[in-house]
Amino acid sequence: MLSIEKTACLSSGKYACLRLSDNEVRVDKINGFQYMAGVTNKRILSGVQPSGILHIGNYFGAIRQFVQLQEQNENYIFVANYHSLTTITDPDVLRKNSLDVVIDYLALGLDPEKTTLFLQSDIPEVTELAWILSTVTPMGLLERAHSFKDKVARGISANHGLFAYPVLMAADILIYDSNYVPVGKDQKQHLEITRDIAEKINLTFGEGTLVIPEELIQKEVAVIPGIDGQKMSKSYGNTIDIFAEGKALKKQVMAIVTDSTPLEEPKDPDNSHIIDLFKFFASAEEVEAMRQNFLAGGYGYGHAKKELLQAITEYFEDARNRRKELVANMDYVEEVLRKGASAARETAQSVMERVRTRTGLLKYLK
Ligand code: ADP
Ligand code: TRP
Repeated sequence: MLSIEKTACLSSGKYACLRLSDNEVRVDKINGFQYMAGVTNKRILSGVQPSGILHIGNYFGAIRQFVQLQEQNENYIFVANYHSLTTITDPDVLRKNSLDVVIDYLALGLDPEKTTLFLQSDIPEVTELAWILSTVTPMGLLERAHSFKDKVARGISANHGLFAYPVLMAADILIYDSNYVPVGKDQKQHLEITRDIAEKINLTFGEGTLVIPEELIQKEVAVIPGIDGQKMSKSYGNTIDIFAEGKALKKQVMAIVTDSTPLEEPKDPDNSHIIDLFKFFASAEEVEAMRQNFLAGGYGYGHAKKELLQAITEYFEDARNRRKELVANMDYVEEVLRKGASAARETAQSVMERVRTRTGLLKYLK
């Protein structure tokens, strides 16, 4: 018997569905947006590239799920700084971005009591596992990876790190016996590669050598539009940043693209980037009120932008304050990372012991 939620999920097509067993599916509605809960008592792992300033697309598309999943699961989140070496070569930038992303995630609600938060570079065993995995990974599997092919097509010179990226990513996941990996659609193929590699290891060295993980992809996750209506993305330069404030935030919001309908005239609420964004921050009633204002006329885009600006400012106010506290208290942030690394490393070392035993790699020094 399918649960009611699962039936709604499948029949309406409106809800995000996770690839879970029937009794684990649940649909939640928060701030008017559905997203999935119902994954409980599992080890959830995800990696985040420390690539700079976070925008509201990152929040609604990814961070909010991590914060929600930590309530009923064992949550591991790490900063993928080994991965970033394939693109960032300035050590100051790498250091700064790595700590910034940790501060941002803590400010946005990751709770170090519930989430093991750490830097990838604190777990050197992951590179050892990556090597072992690479010995069973067919070249063809990596040659077919979209993200590698895309980068090469864009003229980014192909170093071995970029080519082997999916193998390190597989190691990231497999070294913690992870059950579920919440990722965006763009990472789906990397998860398939991870499963292929893990299955090959189990075939070669015996069942149970590695746990086979599942991806958690929200099928219908809302794509947050940028200020020009395209998908919000750093690479399109159309972002509204989570921690922007004052003039900087105002500038981003005021730059939302509109048509030139004069203030007095009615406007189309169904084709407005302002309303599309407002939906993420306002109640259904507030959105309806703005729609009515659009239809009535005498309400300019400037008014609507001001309302949106106010809503965004309030929505992230606590996170902004918390961020400032964290920046003033870096000892605490570093302690979180030390504790996280120590817990993650314990898991990684125990999995590596199993892998070394199964593969016949001797080791005399502890
Ligand atoms: P960007 O496109 O700005 O480089 P990333 O690729 O680093 O963003 O995305 C990090 C995470 O945020 C991913 O899980 C991705 O799915 C999510 N994300 C990014 N932009 C959006 C968006 N506009 N809408 C929904 N989710 C998004
Ligand atoms: N490749 C992921 C990205 O670009 C980041 C990442 C690295 C990751 N290792 C991971 C995500 C392991 C999930 C699990 O977003």
